[in-house]
Amino acid sequence: ALSACLFDLDGVLVDTAKYHFLAWKQLANSLGFDFSQAQNEELKGISRVESLRKILAWGGLDLPQSRQEELAQLKNGWYVEMISNMDETELLPGSLSLLESLRAHHIGIALGSASKNAKLILARTGISSYFDVIVDGNMVSKSKPDPEVFIRGAALLQVPASGCIVFEDASAGIEAAQRAHMKTIGIGQSTDLPAADMVVPDLSKIDLDTLQRLCC
Ligand code: G6P
Ligand code: MG
Repeated sequence: ALSACLFDLDGVLVDTAKYHFLAWKQLANSLGFDFSQAQNEELKGISRVESLRKILAWGGLDLPQSRQEELAQLKNGWYVEMISNMDETELLPGSLSLLESLRAHHIGIALGSASKNAKLILARTGISSYFDVIVDGNMVSKSKPDPEVFIRGAALLQVPASGCIVFEDASAGIEAAQRAHMKTIGIGQSTDLPAADMVVPDLSKIDLDTLQRLCC
């Protein structure tokens, strides 16, 4: 039976995936190269340092650790600037009403995000209080597709993995959830997320019946 829903943040509840993309693109451009929207799919869900490592490899750059730290900070500065004016209008369609409905039915709600900026985003968009549990990039040591973030979430909620549904827009996140033995709902296009149990364009397509059926 359905016990809890675990949500990725960027690209699932809030429209921040576009800002990550813009900020990374700006960084790559400043280093003299570019990357595609298709390559960007590979950056979704993975940590800041791992994203940078991938991007530098695409550009054929091998930089010392200290320079990599500077670049990661530079990108994050631009990103934080982009998100610091966010408000509830940047919640994605259906986010708020699904959170409301889960809360009304006493279904556990957790955040499972790789982002170290997660709490800032939840606060800016006014949804912090819906979460029983928050697991973010400051709390995990292994990045998606490692299942750590979702296993931690279920443990803190004190629910079994079999009663959990994970919402994810990244294939690394779908893999992480499946390795945690949880059901998965992909947000986006099924061609990008072929492994998900089901895929919807956004959370407005989800109701409690659908969730309960997926979990039985
Ligand atoms: C999310 C996003 C990634 C991002 C990661 C770390 O998983 O999908 O694109 O790199 O969080 O975010 P942060 O805000 O800590 O740089
Ligand atoms: Mg995401």
